[in-house]
Amino acid sequence: MKDLKTAYGEWALVTGASSGIGEVFSRRLAAAGMNVVLVARRKERLEALANELSTSFNIETRVVCADLSDEDETKGVVTAVEDLAIGMLVNNAGILNTGNFLDNDLEDEIRLLNTNCKSFLILTHGLGNKMKERNKGALIFLSSLTSVAAISRWSNYSASKGYDLMFSEALNTELKDYNIDVMALCPGLTRTELAEFSSITKLITMDVDVVVDIALSKLGKTNIVVPGIMNKINFFLTRLNPRNLNTRLFSMVVKPTQDLNLRH
Ligand SMILES: NC(=O)c1ccc[n+]([C@@H]2O[C@H](COP(=O)([O-])OP(=O)(O)OC[C@H]3O[C@@H](n4cnc5c(N)ncnc54)[C@H](OP(=O)(O)O)[C@@H]3O)[C@@H](O)[C@H]2O)c1
Repeated sequence: MKDLKTAYGEWALVTGASSGIGEVFSRRLAAAGMNVVLVARRKERLEALANELSTSFNIETRVVCADLSDEDETKGVVTAVEDLAIGMLVNNAGILNTGNFLDNDLEDEIRLLNTNCKSFLILTHGLGNKMKERNKGALIFLSSLTSVAAISRWSNYSASKGYDLMFSEALNTELKDYNIDVMALCPGLTRTELAEFSSITKLITMDVDVVVDIALSKLGKTNIVVPGIMNKINFFLTRLNPRNLNTRLFSMVVKPTQDLNLRH
């Protein structure tokens, strides 16, 4: 792994730092000597993590509590870090809705779109421009293996992750001239609080530490990172398959997840 602080600067900002993939990103970046801004809604968790990281790694931390499904609160995050030179942005906060779209609550679906996509857009614009001025930076987008298939019963989620993938792929080309490394991280099922997976799906889930370590080792080298050999094969075959075939295959795979226990 490259020296992240030298490559990108002193400060990183991680959204969804209160659990799962975002929490592990925050731990790894702090261990690499970067100061970290921790963003999510659960204040106590963020404060506990901030204390732990600043004590263990002798770094600075800042906690910014925000609901990233709200446009104004998301813009408020950019304002809250105006005095810091953020060199790395990890756009990670996200939620999953499952079930038939028309049966779901509309507000829940809008919340998903805003958190999984709109917050990425606002923060990337707000912090990316300063990276451009400094001529260095890193943008990591949490997409998913589901980004390459249109999955029924996960329709809004898979579409939102498709947006994250396409957005980051395009920015990767656009921002090369400014030395900004862009990554779409596309994990398969990973053991976090996002969903309580059934015993069957648990067999194919990955450990969150492994996912984050792979991502950081590839930063600046590869634009699309798919952790795990089976996920990699799945991702690239899916890209080659006709989309309607993928929809059928993925929809069969996610069927046992209808009873997922989801936390918003
Ligand atoms: N786990 C998987 O299998 C998997 C696979 C592929 C991709 N991903 C992606 O990885 C990312 C992280 O998910 P995870 O698996 O680590 O799940 P997680 O443990 O549930 O973490 C989600 C994080 O997002 C934050 N968040 C959710 N809604 C928010 C909101 N409205 N405002 C601010 N923060 C919000 C949560 O914090 P608060 O609740 O404190 O706000 C939490 O820190 C997501 O984008 C997800 O789509 C996950």
